[in-house]
Amino acid sequence: MNEVPLVEVRDLTKDYAEGENVARVLKGVQLTVAQGELVALLGPSGSGKSTLLNILGTLMRPTSGSVRVLGQSLVGAEDLVLTEFRNRHIGFVFQAHLLLPDFTALENVMFPAAARHGRERHTDRARASELLDRVGLSDRRDYLASQLSGGQKQRVAVARSLMNAPELVLADEPTGNLDRESADRVMQLLIDINSSDGTGFLISTHDENIAARCQRQIYMADGRIADDRR
Ligand SMILES: Nc1ncnc2c1ncn2[C@@H]1O[C@H](COP(=O)(O)OP(=O)(O)O)[C@@H](O)[C@H]1O
Ligand SMILES: [Mg+2]
Repeated sequence: MNEVPLVEVRDLTKDYAEGENVARVLKGVQLTVAQGELVALLGPSGSGKSTLLNILGTLMRPTSGSVRVLGQSLVGAEDLVLTEFRNRHIGFVFQAHLLLPDFTALENVMFPAAARHGRERHTDRARASELLDRVGLSDRRDYLASQLSGGQKQRVAVARSLMNAPELVLADEPTGNLDRESADRVMQLLIDINSSDGTGFLISTHDENIAARCQRQIYMADGRIADDRR
C-alpha cells in the first residue's frame, strides 16, 4: 500500500519571541505518522508537545521545515486554505474541553459542521445525536454544557472532534483534568473510534497508562523526538 502519510514532518523548528530574545522550542522534529495510527506523545512539560500539536492542527505556523497532513503542505498555504483544510480533516480535543457553556451538548457537537459549511444542515442534528450516543451521552443531549461533569464534558468534546469525520484527531492532554475512571473511559472511546473508523490520533499525555494503550509512543525532550516505540 502506498498511501499518503497522515502526518509528515521534516526539520521542523519553531521559535517564540521572548522579549528581546528568541527561544527555539522545536529544534528539528522529524515525524511520519501513517493514516489510522493511534499515537501517544509523551515528554516533560515544556518539551514542545503542545507546540507540535498546534502546528499540525494549523493553529500555528512553523518557523522552518516542512509539515504535511494528508499531503497538504501547512507551510506557505493561505489562511483560508488552512481553515478549510482544518475544518474538513482535523478534529481537536483539548485538556480544557472548551465547550460553550450556554449551549446544549448537542449544539456543541454540531458546531464544527456549521463552521465547515457556513450553516446548519438538516443532517447535522442526527449526526451529532448519533455521536453523543456513541460517547454514551444520549441522555444528556439537551443539557447545557455547564450542567455536565468534567468527564461528561470531555466525552462531548470527543464527539465534537468527530463531527466532520476527520482523518486526524489531535488531543492535547485530553485526560489531564479527569479522575482515573473518567480518564480510562475517554481513552477507551478514542481507542474504539480508532479501531472502528480508522481515525488517526495523536494524543499528548503525562499518563503512562494512557500511553501504553496506544500503538506507538513518541517521547519528546527539549524540542526534539527522543524516542519512538511501537
Ligand atoms: N505562545 C508562546 N510564547 C512563548 N513561549 C511559548 C509559547 N507557548 C509555549 N512556549 C514555550 O515553549 C516551550 C514548549 O511549550 P509547549 O509546547 O507548551 O510544551 P509542552 O506541551 O510539552 O508542555 C515552553 O518552554 C513554553 O514555555
Ligand atoms: Mg502542553
